Amino acid sequence: MTEFFISTPIYYVNDAPHLGHAYSMINADAFARWHRGLGDEVYFLTGTDEHGQKVADSAARNDMSVQAWTDTYAERFKAAWEALRIDYDDFIRTTEERHTKAVQKFLQAIYDRGYIYKGMYRGTYCVSCEAYYTANDAPDGNCPVHKRPLIEMEEENYFFRLSAFQEALIEWYDRDPDAVFPDFRRNEAYSFIKGGLEDISISRTSIDWGIPLPWDERHVCYVWFDALINYVTATGYAEDFERFSRLWRHSHHLIGKDIIRFHCVWWPAMLMAAGLEPPSKLLVHGWLLVKGEKMAKSGGNGVDPIELVGTYGTDAVRYYLLREHALGADGDFSLEALEHRYNVELANNIGNLLSRVTNVVARSLGGVAPAYTGRAIAAERIEPHVARAQDGWNGFATAQALEEVQAMVRLANAVLEERAPWKAADPAEAAEPLGDALEILRLVAVLVAPVLTEASAKILAAIGIDPASVKGSYTEALGVGQYAGGASISKAAPLFPRLEATGA
Ligand code: MSP
Repeated sequence: MTEFFISTPIYYVNDAPHLGHAYSMINADAFARWHRGLGDEVYFLTGTDEHGQKVADSAARNDMSVQAWTDTYAERFKAAWEALRIDYDDFIRTTEERHTKAVQKFLQAIYDRGYIYKGMYRGTYCVSCEAYYTANDAPDGNCPVHKRPLIEMEEENYFFRLSAFQEALIEWYDRDPDAVFPDFRRNEAYSFIKGGLEDISISRTSIDWGIPLPWDERHVCYVWFDALINYVTATGYAEDFERFSRLWRHSHHLIGKDIIRFHCVWWPAMLMAAGLEPPSKLLVHGWLLVKGEKMAKSGGNGVDPIELVGTYGTDAVRYYLLREHALGADGDFSLEALEHRYNVELANNIGNLLSRVTNVVARSLGGVAPAYTGRAIAAERIEPHVARAQDGWNGFATAQALEEVQAMVRLANAVLEERAPWKAADPAEAAEPLGDALEILRLVAVLVAPVLTEASAKILAAIGIDPASVKGSYTEALGVGQYAGGASISKAAPLFPRLEATGA
């Protein structure tokens, strides 16, 4: 059995979740579902990032204790993930005791190995990013991301000797060229490392909302250091090292492009400093944009995932986000584009195939499903699509996987148009194209299962297959030509009813 550990970033609880956050979650959930379908032992981790000044400030502005504030917001994230059918295995909150333990153990290990020293930090900080900026990063004194003035800081801090890891990081990147996906993101991290690394401040004395350093309780751990460590906390670093080691070899961190430096530079160096291996893969996605601007709360353009799911359904929202943009690139979000995908690919293509096949089997073949024969659609015409769709899922190329599914459905619809089984005088003549189209529906249902969680099960049930029977054995199930026929089939209800005009 192969392990597959996938994580998302842990989200700041300073505001409600929007579709930009959901983008990471839906991708991670689809990868987790694909690997569960293959029979892998999957561990899918997400959670909330609850320490730091930004969260403490948000609570204060709203007159709430920080703990009560984080409790409320952690629940809001969970509710959004439930609406999107995100099936995570673990939800970590950085205010949990298990995390304090792991952070302290991790920090102590780095400290004992000589990679932490005390110094004076003088410089500038952006609370919204929770990041320190040098004059190089921000020559005009404004945060390069938020365009607002940085705050001046001067305090005694502990520092992590990041500079000591430049060579080791370069070696790691050279040894494992696929560690960061896609390539252009890898190159970004690589050139940043090549450009020289400065040590980083890892503690604060001016705030107390954080995890105390084990050797000096006057300091709390800097929120990014604390946050990154969640990945080892949850896998058992402090409490079950054997489990940690087993999962760690299969770790995949899915992150947005804005947090590359933390994950692709700091985090592997932190792990090396603690005597651990770097993560096995970092998957970097782009941003969801609205009219060219990053979707963000501060931009006032955040789309509420729960509302969107209320209008279009969970499957449609998940499908649109994975289908529209390749992982890695930025991509515009618009309701017009969502509706277009829905109408063309879900309703008219997949939905229509299921309706017409079940309808004609019910009417012309007495509701008894014909078997696949390959006489209308030879296996060789289907197999390349199935192979490329599998490659897409295995290689984090979701848009490719879904394009191949569309191509298979177009093929089946075209053959049905050509052979017109609804006009056939002889049932045997109708059976051939219908049996082959049923096989395509079977394969499609498996290939879309990571995205269309409801529709996949509905397709399988409509063609007489128990969805539970394929779970854990996708590789076998994706062998072309298995549809045996014989099931009793009735006309299926529309999978994707046509949308009422929303005026979008
Ligand atoms: N708390 C840190 C992550 C710590 S991980 C150890 C953080 N939180 S965040 O809430 O600001 O962002 C979480 C993730 O959401 C990031 O990967 C970020 O890229 C992603 N997104 C936020 N807005 C986004 C879009 N508009 N589009 C796509 N993803 C975006 O950073």
